[in-house]
Amino acid sequence: MAQEDVFKKIVAHCKEYGFVFPSSEIYDGLGAVYDYGQLGVEMKNNIKTYWWQSMVLLHNNIVGIDSSIFMHPTIWKASGHVDAFNDPLIDNRDSKKRYRADVLIEDQIAKYDEKIEKEIAKARKRFGDSFDEEKYRATSANVLEHTAKRDALHERFKKAMNDGDLAELKQIILDEEIVCPISGTRNWTDVRQFNLMFSTEMGSTADSNMKIYLRPETAQGIFVNYLNVQKTGRMKIPFGIAQIGKAFRNEIVARQFIFRMREFEQMEMQFFIKPGTELDWFAKWKKTRMAWHQALGFGADHYRFHDHDKLAHYANAATDIEFLMPFGFKEVEGIHSRTNFDLSQHEKYSGKSIKYFDPETNESYTPYVIETSIGVDRMFLSIMCASYEEQALENGETRTVLHLPAPLAPVKLAILPLVKKDGLPELAHSIQDELKFHFNCQYDEKDSIGKRYRRQDAIGTPYCVTVDHQSLEDNTVTLRNRDTMEQQRVNIADLCGILSDTVSITSILKTL
Ligand code: GAP
Repeated sequence: MAQEDVFKKIVAHCKEYGFVFPSSEIYDGLGAVYDYGQLGVEMKNNIKTYWWQSMVLLHNNIVGIDSSIFMHPTIWKASGHVDAFNDPLIDNRDSKKRYRADVLIEDQIAKYDEKIEKEIAKARKRFGDSFDEEKYRATSANVLEHTAKRDALHERFKKAMNDGDLAELKQIILDEEIVCPISGTRNWTDVRQFNLMFSTEMGSTADSNMKIYLRPETAQGIFVNYLNVQKTGRMKIPFGIAQIGKAFRNEIVARQFIFRMREFEQMEMQFFIKPGTELDWFAKWKKTRMAWHQALGFGADHYRFHDHDKLAHYANAATDIEFLMPFGFKEVEGIHSRTNFDLSQHEKYSGKSIKYFDPETNESYTPYVIETSIGVDRMFLSIMCASYEEQALENGETRTVLHLPAPLAPVKLAILPLVKKDGLPELAHSIQDELKFHFNCQYDEKDSIGKRYRRQDAIGTPYCVTVDHQSLEDNTVTLRNRDTMEQQRVNIADLCGILSDTVSITSILKTL
């Protein structure tokens, strides 16, 4: 099945089973805004718990905060968002559609990459076992031609972005003959800058109203609370502050479901360090964050680092952790070495000293910062994409199964009485009453046992227990594993222990 079709199925599946709904759907929806349903919210909470505990529980020197969405407007002037949080946009005059110029060019680069990979795949098929990919890449005329074009375009694009040269971005679009996907024409406007912050007004009279912004990142709430936390928590450098919360961006190109939203959630951690140690800490956090992702068990081939070509003027290193989505490798998390830019700016704009006095060296300095910033919704989407499978069974049926990592699954255990009589529902309910304090359990007595298993597979429930007549005699049940579909007879009294070992967040934290 084409990857595009797989993605459509995942989106439909999310809606059908109560994971994600379009926002305001009965009013025909609101662009790039989504609601999480009854199962989606459970899984999202599990993702957040996994992240929060890996930061705050596992590190003695990381604490959390929860700052407001509304903040003093000068914060956004100091951070640079008022002047520079822009995307270069371009309109197609025929379709009247608006695009991000940088995204159009990145898509064009990806097309060259696709051409190269197609050539390689064709040659691999032709030459079989004797195929030497490295040699082919270095000698095939077609591959060399595509690679040269790709690299030249990449260099030109990088320079235009670094220089903020909007005219050059338009020229690249024209030279590459990039067409609007809707109208198919090259009738483009000039490229313009567009600020991504939403604004509103605070106050009760027109005269005293103050223009404020919905925060486009949670990080600034951490920076402006740095002194409060450092002093009240008696924190010593190096230390970190973590936060999970909503962020808002008026994205021009909002597409690919919950990948790019106008209201989304971030999990950010700012790690405050001594100047000069930042590149070591950057390397450490890269490793720690990649391990966090890979502990989910989807395989190392699903992830890669993408080092930034264009560094923000205040950063001295930056990388993305990318995940293999059905539409290619895409950024899920950013790790940035932000120097002392943010704290210095807040020092300048607020007039308050934000220095750290190091008792060991007797010096004062403005700390440097390593930031790890991950989108909850993108994480959610990556897990859904990697977990979704349509399996052809031996009996000719198709089983749709979500292989969710058990600690993140919304429901951990389904409790199913074989029949709705003979005291089986009562025993099943008593098992749920016992286990509900530990895990999210679902009771289901409707339809055949096979159909009930399918329903649980489709929502990613790692285990089902079936209560049958034997259960009444010897207090055992069958425990069915979602992925292997194997069943084993276990004592009811052992269920809690067996499950804890695999479905709790603690079980995955212990592997880090
Ligand atoms: N404080 C740094 C910062 O905000 P960013 O790269 O702009 O950095 C960090 O965003 C992460 O937030 C991204 O890697 C992505 O997972 C998530 N994110 C950013 N914009 C998003 C959007 N419009 N919709 C969903 N997630 C988004």
